[in-house]
Amino acid sequence: MPVRDLSVETRPTKEVVVSSLTRDASVAACIFDLIDNSIDAARAVLVPMGDDEKDDFGLPKSYGGIQIDVDIGRNGVVVSDNCDGISSEELSKSVLRFGVRSKQPFGIGLYGVGLNRAIFKLGDRTELDSDNGSERVALNFLASEYLASPEWDLPAKALVSRGKPGTKIAISAPPKNVSKFISDRVWIDDFINESGKRYHRFVEKGLALRINKTEVKPVFIRLRENGPFPCRHKSYTTDDGVNVFLEAGQHQSHRFPAEEDFDRSTNNQLTDQYGWSVSCNDRLIVMCDTSEKTGWDKKWHPEFNGFVGYVWFTAEDGSSLPWNTSKSDVDVFSSIYQEALDDMRQMTIEWRSFGREAKKKRQRGEPLLAPGAKSTASEPGSSGISDSEAERAKPSSRASAGGTSTKKKPGSKDSQNKPPVKKTDHNELRTVLPNDVDERHCKNKLLLLVHEAKKTDIYDCTYSALALVRMLFETSAIEYMIRIGRASEMREYCYNKHYCNEVGEAEKKIKKKDYQPSLDGICDFLLNADNIWGAEKSPYIRQSAEKFKKHKADLNSALHWPLRTIGFSTALEIRNEVLPILRHFIED
Ligand SMILES: Nc1ncnc2c1ncn2[C@@H]1O[C@H](COP(=O)(O)OP(=O)(O)OP(=O)(O)O)[C@@H](O)[C@H]1O
Ligand SMILES: [Mg+2]
Repeated sequence: MPVRDLSVETRPTKEVVVSSLTRDASVAACIFDLIDNSIDAARAVLVPMGDDEKDDFGLPKSYGGIQIDVDIGRNGVVVSDNCDGISSEELSKSVLRFGVRSKQPFGIGLYGVGLNRAIFKLGDRTELDSDNGSERVALNFLASEYLASPEWDLPAKALVSRGKPGTKIAISAPPKNVSKFISDRVWIDDFINESGKRYHRFVEKGLALRINKTEVKPVFIRLRENGPFPCRHKSYTTDDGVNVFLEAGQHQSHRFPAEEDFDRSTNNQLTDQYGWSVSCNDRLIVMCDTSEKTGWDKKWHPEFNGFVGYVWFTAEDGSSLPWNTSKSDVDVFSSIYQEALDDMRQMTIEWRSFGREAKKKRQRGEPLLAPGAKSTASEPGSSGISDSEAERAKPSSRASAGGTSTKKKPGSKDSQNKPPVKKTDHNELRTVLPNDVDERHCKNKLLLLVHEAKKTDIYDCTYSALALVRMLFETSAIEYMIRIGRASEMREYCYNKHYCNEVGEAEKKIKKKDYQPSLDGICDFLLNADNIWGAEKSPYIRQSAEKFKKHKADLNSALHWPLRTIGFSTALEIRNEVLPILRHFIED
């Protein structure tokens, strides 16, 4: 029997909480934390947004009218914004409470520690003044006094609103290891340049971000359009609702040695702009990475020169995104990141094989030609980094937020590739496949066919469209059967029922293991095998499979009979009827 009960103290000390937060955080990361918070508060001003005020990823289309000013100098750091302010309730309960997690939809803030980290890292004195338009709050304190006191609460004031929303956070009396950076002109210039990278999407969307009165310009490396290497891209949504969009290709100003306008010195100047960049909810976290964490399987090698790739992760729930707590790196262990990494590796492999082909051409003295016009935005010899996008993208006032009508995917001015967000009305759809078809399971040939199908207009290119429907059906059916583990069953069925019956036992030339099922065999198998679709989907997918079988003769004759004509409306009808099964094969 115990003599008496004890209670065991587990509360942390302030020192351990603060030092574990600040020890590994860089000065720059802490200032970025403050800017991130202002951007999140901007989003709160822009929400609720209508659909036409969101971009293809559900993020705000415009930050027009939003202003963030950052002042960095030997006395400290001041960040002020004209965004949604802090209420007295929020200041009392959550703003400085260590680790109260943020639930901002599509937000950058997540862990509830960024502001504390900035405050305790950057200086001894903090002055926070915030107005949400109906009330104003003020908090002034010294970190040294706070740390010395046993109290966990801080005194603050609720004041009468000045009627203008905004927040100003001034952190002064920096320690030596901070002031050596923030009083250094070169460090500040680097910080401004880095901000142009990290916040390029927001600035392109109209955010006015000024650092020491210098307007931050978006820094973004563009892919070459119409170059000899066709840009690769892929978009899909994960089970956790994270939209993933990947894009890779050739640096806008890079040229392969076999190209006529190749210039080695231009290529050499661009080396720090090659590699993968990764963004979460529009905030860039990794730029131009050429290390293992972005899928490079060996030390950076000249054959990767010219490669530029982007991965954009977007989610309403920021905790599903693969970023670390200071948003300065990817979480390589996240399953979402690992899945994207497979596609990243695939794209780098395709780049490498193309480069090898290009090299062989050069050795044979053959020119490497780009199929289309040269990129007009930047010619070889220029940096390839955009710094003029802000002016074009910036709406003049907050009232014009969302005013742009052209949908743009991140980083591309005018590409047709769109990530899946909205379902399309089939009656209005002129392309073989709608843009919202999810590409998660697509690789290699199927991915390219899906891209072609999203771009091919049935009205303008009726026969190409029909050929695509046929190729899509065969390729996606086989990929699907491989995915659900029934490919060998299908091959066996087709071999026995079709091939052996057609050619007879004596003439069999193809071994079962080498046999590729014919279209007739695939259709037959799909309509006769058990439990392919699941009870819920079976009726309408089966119906679509039957429709495809019915149209097979039309598709074959369109492809093989020179005198057979097929009209646009018949092609449209075929597409509409086979779309459910195509979608199932591609997406499920
Ligand atoms: N400039 C600002 N305007 C309005 N609210 C702000 C501002 N800065 C901070 N806040 C409030 O303070 C809270 C705490 O910020 P903090 O940076 O500590 O956490 P967070 O942004 O939620 O998460 P993270 O640690 O990932 O940055 C924010 O959720 C927000 O409500
Ligand atoms: Mg934050």
